[in-house]
Amino acid sequence: MKKTILILAFIVLGFAGRLSADEGMWLPMFVERLNHTDMQQMGLQLTADEIYGINNASIKDAIAGLSTSPTPNGYFCTGEIVSAQGLMFTNHHCGYDIIQQHSSVDNDILTNGFWARSLDEELPNDALTASFLVSMNDITDSVMAQLNEEMSDQERSAAIRSTTARLRKAAADEAGRYHVVSKSFFEGNEYYLFVYEVFRDVRLVGAPPSSIGKYGGDTDNWMWPRHTGDFAIFRVYTAPDGSPADYAPENIPLKPKHHLPISLDGVQKDDFTMIWGFPGGTDRYLTSYGVNFNLDKQYPPIIDLFGKKLDIWKIYMDADPQVRIQYASKHAVTANTWKYLIGQTLGLRNLDVEAKKREIEATFANWVEQDTERKAKYGEVLPTMEQAYQQMGSTIQPLLYNAMAGLSGAEIVGFSQQFAALHGLLKPIPKKERPKDKEIARQAEADRQKQIEQTIESLRPSVDDFFKNYNAAADQHVLAVMLNDYYMHVDTDKQPEILYQQFNKHSGSFDSYAETVFKNSIFSNQASVSNFLDDPDFKTLDRDPAYTLATGLMGHMMQVSGGYQASQQSLSKAKRLFMSGLREMQPDKVFYPDANSTMRLSYGTVQDYYPADAVKYAYTTTTAGILEKEDPTNEEFIVDKKLKELINLQDFGPYANSDGVLIVNFLSNNDITGGNSGSPVINGRGELIGIAFDGNWEAMSGDIAFEPALQRTINVDIRYVLFIIDRVAGATNLIDELDIRKAEPKPDRVELLEI
Ligand code: ARG
Repeated sequence: MKKTILILAFIVLGFAGRLSADEGMWLPMFVERLNHTDMQQMGLQLTADEIYGINNASIKDAIAGLSTSPTPNGYFCTGEIVSAQGLMFTNHHCGYDIIQQHSSVDNDILTNGFWARSLDEELPNDALTASFLVSMNDITDSVMAQLNEEMSDQERSAAIRSTTARLRKAAADEAGRYHVVSKSFFEGNEYYLFVYEVFRDVRLVGAPPSSIGKYGGDTDNWMWPRHTGDFAIFRVYTAPDGSPADYAPENIPLKPKHHLPISLDGVQKDDFTMIWGFPGGTDRYLTSYGVNFNLDKQYPPIIDLFGKKLDIWKIYMDADPQVRIQYASKHAVTANTWKYLIGQTLGLRNLDVEAKKREIEATFANWVEQDTERKAKYGEVLPTMEQAYQQMGSTIQPLLYNAMAGLSGAEIVGFSQQFAALHGLLKPIPKKERPKDKEIARQAEADRQKQIEQTIESLRPSVDDFFKNYNAAADQHVLAVMLNDYYMHVDTDKQPEILYQQFNKHSGSFDSYAETVFKNSIFSNQASVSNFLDDPDFKTLDRDPAYTLATGLMGHMMQVSGGYQASQQSLSKAKRLFMSGLREMQPDKVFYPDANSTMRLSYGTVQDYYPADAVKYAYTTTTAGILEKEDPTNEEFIVDKKLKELINLQDFGPYANSDGVLIVNFLSNNDITGGNSGSPVINGRGELIGIAFDGNWEAMSGDIAFEPALQRTINVDIRYVLFIIDRVAGATNLIDELDIRKAEPKPDRVELLEI
């Protein structure tokens, strides 16, 4: 007993001595050197090799980066393999777009859910890939060997591009069927190569109804307490020989090197949690100037424009069930970013992140001041940044509006912009520019016709794709509002000509202009675009009002982006030097690189938090909360009928805690960000205990500054996932496939240390 107490005291001290280990998105390759001891103290029972091994199966082999590309450079979400037949869990919101694609008014699986009862019912997808990391390599020395400080920024970027391209090619040739990606770390101070196996046949296996998978909707998004069953199930397929292949009926389920077993033990406060995945991007080393730039210049217009667009879409979605499905994914993605930016703005202000950044800058400046060599190397870093952000601040507005209210405002603009290449090809060549030689002229003309044909054929599928999820009335409304916002917020001399011309022509009414565009453009309906492609002529396209608008905005982009780009270049150099200076200044501190869509692991513990003075949030939610939130008049809070029945019966089977309560979501203090959605939450024994799906409102500034006391990851408890699959959906075929480990006695950390 005494001994136990002593060891406990040791553990407590051990914890106190650590720099908050919850912060940091670590590269698995370095875990043995940097984190393994720390993780063991917190409850990890696996060896470093079982976590990340190149020659043996390890956790990393069960982690997939999800993308829509067959040759991805980044991943929108993470998935984890949970069976020997390539079954993969991720979030419902990660599968949302795909679930929408398989939905129609008559077969609305977005609303009703979907469960494949056998392999042949699983739904193939055109564009969904799962990438598995094979190995990673440090190529910093090879890249740096080609660089010197005398190079201009352009020369430097070009040298980096050509060196990394060469190294990628060499690695790809050597590795055969693998896809190789290179990435910059620490603001261009380090470079790594990543070798992936990319599987291109990934099928939808199961999804709960949105009333479970998206329970709480946008109201609860980014918030705790949460009651969302945010999971979806896919299966990775391979060619019969096990290699990656496009969809084919004869493909077989992936035989993974490793899959995660699932634990029914549940979580308790302070339990060890590690989360693996592909976080997309953070900006942890951003300066106070950057914080202000985001707050004052960059975010407000985006928040304003997204908010307006969302309101308009909602009108048309509520009015028409087909539009509700067509715009479901676009709306969810935009709403997610919109709320994120609002939350981040509040977080940066409330937590006074600017002041914290200033403190770091003051320390840095002081350190630089103390040494002439440092002064020469780093003396200009902070002033350069300040100046660059100032310049960016004064040039970003016209650029941002042109991009966000113009080119990507109404959908019709971006769509007609896709026809620019065809426009160039159709343009008649003046007599005097044609080749003199008859035969050469004939050949040139034949080539041109062939190119036109090819371009048309490549456009046809994008026309189908576009109109599948398009409503012209909604988009006309968006166009009017976006252009009006653009006109009102940007000085006339920084506007594209077409904007103020049309404003005047239509007596100040962008409604009237939008109406004219939609009435007269071929791009506002599918039949007229298809007719045009059957028999294209230059004049129709050249005079098309949507195309003319797109061209006017595009041409203006070149004019407004120059100054901004120049300041961005000096900024990227300053950021690189700042980063290397910070590391030089704190030689004993272990730095972790910003997220950049590479595989990371984050470790921490299950934790509650205090969101406000005198308010404490528990670390778990239960099914009771689902019923507390129920509101049949609000689509976000409708409770699934079957689920409600089972909750009322308190019939949770083996998925409940020992007291009979079913946990829905839980919190941990892991450090994650967008891209980590769908990531496995793994316990000390390497078993799956949850799926990460969100962050919390009080720490939305977390991508810029980690807040240990407040920042939490929101996870769906794996037992709630199993309960939905098993009891609500009755998909026992899937349960049978899983490697579920029944409650074992909790491992005693004290004993562990004694060994
Ligand atoms: N905030 C989550 C993320 O960025 C997405 C949650 C989706 N849920 C929703 N109600 N839109 O990963």
